Amino acid sequence: MLHKIKKIGVMTSGGDSPGMNAAIRSVVRACVFHNVECVGIYRGYEGMIEGDFVPMNARSVKGIINKGGTVLKSARSKEFRTYEGRKKAYDKLVEANIDAFVVIGGDGSFTGAMIFSQEFDIPVMGIPGTIDNDIVGTTHTLGYDTALNTVVEAIDKIRDTASSHNRLFFVEVMGRDVGHIALNVGVGAGAEEILIPEEDLGLDRLLESLRRSKQSGKSSSIVVVAEGDKIGKNVFELKDYVEENMTEYEVRVSVLGHMQRGGSPSCFDRVLASRMGVKAVESLINGTSNCMVGLKNDVMALTPFDQAVKGKSKINMELLRVSDIMTI
Ligand code: F6P
Repeated sequence: MLHKIKKIGVMTSGGDSPGMNAAIRSVVRACVFHNVECVGIYRGYEGMIEGDFVPMNARSVKGIINKGGTVLKSARSKEFRTYEGRKKAYDKLVEANIDAFVVIGGDGSFTGAMIFSQEFDIPVMGIPGTIDNDIVGTTHTLGYDTALNTVVEAIDKIRDTASSHNRLFFVEVMGRDVGHIALNVGVGAGAEEILIPEEDLGLDRLLESLRRSKQSGKSSSIVVVAEGDKIGKNVFELKDYVEENMTEYEVRVSVLGHMQRGGSPSCFDRVLASRMGVKAVESLINGTSNCMVGLKNDVMALTPFDQAVKGKSKINMELLRVSDIMTI
């Protein structure tokens, strides 16, 4: 049933990503602009279940557009996976007169939102916030661009030490089950090889490629490995395997880890967050629910949650070919 929305909640959920603060700021200010009250929900669905809310106005979000992390904190809630947990959350929203909300997070957060919205008929919009870029319905998730820049900068530094010592480095990057980060930073940082889950290179071809690099006169090499790669060995096992089979290489491993999720958001992510926040609030006011805001052909577009969470984001295979040519 369409009813006038008077109070919107906003929260961040799941793994944090740079640009989440800029999105919170945008949601809050779009609410103020449209004379709708806005309430911050702390710690994602955990905070919703506990009623951990804070009233927000245009000034409560000052000075955060450039900050990494999320001022509302984030969490992955086990309790919200149960009906009882969701009922508690609904009761808290009713108690606080919150009649719609915006969730900034990844596919797990959207799945929760979708079930919740269907069970309790509460309007909800999603903003895709994750460094992994693994969501269908947007070419870019919030934080992805910043993470790419962070990782390229880190690999440039690893390259300095790798070439000084004539070493081979395996650099593991995040991305959960997809290879977007690995593939793009691999090309951007000029890696000799890129291992991603979407393409099974195989151990023999890896050795062959490293041999070729050596023969072509390269004294050091960088292999970027996506954390979800399915070559069958983790980065440390890969190191041992290559050292056993290619004694000419001195190998080191660098797992970049959670530093990839931090830092000040890039201009691209700040602009994207600002656009997404406005679109999410205006969509709720116009009676839309259960959709994710995304970027398609540089235009804001809505994708129903069920399509966004069930779909499989595709990597750009052209980049693999470009990488092969660049590493000749
Ligand atoms: O989804 C974002 C992400 O950083 C993934 O790249 C990574 O696999 C995961 O979260 C790490 O999760 P946690 O914060 O629970 O260690």
